[in-house]
Amino acid sequence: MDPLVGAIDQGTSSTRFLVFNAKTAEVIIHHQVEINQSFPKEGWVEEDPREIIQSVYECIEKTCKKLCHLNIDIGNIKAVGVTNQRETTLVWDKVTGEPLYNAIVWLDLRTQSTVERLINKAPGKNKNHLKHKTGLPISTYFSAVKLRWLLDNVDMVQQAVLTGRAMFGTVDSWIIWCLTGGRKGGIHCTDVSNASRTMLFNIHTMDWDHELCSYFDIPMELLPKVKSSSEIYGRMKTTILEGVPISGCLGDQSAALVGQMCFKDGQTKNTYGTGCFMLRNTGNKPVMSEHGLLTTVAYKMGPDQPPCYALEGSVAIAGAVVRWLKDNMGIVQSSAEIEKLAASAGTSYGCYFVPAFSGLYAPYWEPSARGIICGLTQFTNKSHLAFAALEAVCFQTREIVDAMNKDSGVPLVQLQVDGGMTANRLLMQLQADILGVSVVKPSMSETTALGAAMAAGAAEGVKVWSLSPSDLPRITSEKYEPQINSDESEFRFARWKKAVQRSMNWET
Ligand code: G3P
Repeated sequence: MDPLVGAIDQGTSSTRFLVFNAKTAEVIIHHQVEINQSFPKEGWVEEDPREIIQSVYECIEKTCKKLCHLNIDIGNIKAVGVTNQRETTLVWDKVTGEPLYNAIVWLDLRTQSTVERLINKAPGKNKNHLKHKTGLPISTYFSAVKLRWLLDNVDMVQQAVLTGRAMFGTVDSWIIWCLTGGRKGGIHCTDVSNASRTMLFNIHTMDWDHELCSYFDIPMELLPKVKSSSEIYGRMKTTILEGVPISGCLGDQSAALVGQMCFKDGQTKNTYGTGCFMLRNTGNKPVMSEHGLLTTVAYKMGPDQPPCYALEGSVAIAGAVVRWLKDNMGIVQSSAEIEKLAASAGTSYGCYFVPAFSGLYAPYWEPSARGIICGLTQFTNKSHLAFAALEAVCFQTREIVDAMNKDSGVPLVQLQVDGGMTANRLLMQLQADILGVSVVKPSMSETTALGAAMAAGAAEGVKVWSLSPSDLPRITSEKYEPQINSDESEFRFARWKKAVQRSMNWET
């Protein structure tokens, strides 16, 4: 039997555990559990850390049972990788092992006033004041401001800090700590890709930064140890896979970049999940954007390997707009129905939908923007709205591609895509039409989990997966070519941009 590698994929909406064949990169089996989000106040988004870790246990347990039913020995699983929703912030008590507050999800807007205060104290009130070290603008998106809020507002967190019992982590740290023993000797670590989304990490020195921590007034003893994305962090202690090394850790967007085999400078992928995230590999040098993109650490494949960086265009709301149409508006019963409904209209009929529910991320970074729907007539119905929602995902991606083209001076010729929404063929065709370039979707849709499995399998001391270019698996793909003329798509895009301006100035 070929060696197997497991991947825990903990995303904003669900947790999955997948088992890959390390020779063929095929998924053998998987299990998935949905994750609840709570919205305690307008703009707040939380998840329960206990539910997150329970979902990880359940997925591992059920996947292993399914493997046994296939008569495959779970002893063939040689390593496990972790990939996760990034920036989501947790604090827990290292003595009791209990979380001290809910996880504050990356989309959460509660820190808007903290962000304004921090920007106001920056020289020239410049939101890019820390960009030279972090690659990021000061924004509600990143972990430092969420941790600041927890330290300012939650008594239990303050107490635990005073008594030296508090641990901070993003979701990867929480999972690895729990799985390696938790309060009984769990390993408190993170990897460089996740650390680079906190705003406390210097992407040049590749370590936590004193100046950044003092800017946000964060005690450094709360922070996990930063490791590479591919090395043995510890061994499983609390699951059926006891003794198996956890040896890969990547933020989900970095994992998708790896899973799409974008190892070369210039290679780009776009993942359509809750949000939409385009990453362009820029090799071993961080490239600072002049057009509203982020500079991030993509991965570091081993303690002695150089880091690899990426330019990133982050869009907060993609799949989440479909979930909103389903849960809040009730215009579809399931997310999959959106394609049929939108196709029945075939056009938005001049309706534009800017889903700025969490402000606007790249390239605008405007936390006060709010969602708008405009261009309505008496003729507009729910199918036009569904179409406008899908178009919004594509227009937002077009804005990111334009920014990447300007930053790099080299126009994108084709876009590699992945993520749950890419099952929507109408969306993919619209994306090719709106970008005017081919859109290429791998037939293997589990690229995020694959990236985490590759990092875990390639780690020193595991070595069941080779990352050398000649050994990388060949993955077949499906291609969507632009079908409308560029005048038409430019006209629609220009209208969209007007709607975006309105979403940023809707109060004035
Ligand atoms: O930065 C947030 C991102 O990591 C979340 O990804 O797949 O849950 O939209 P996803």
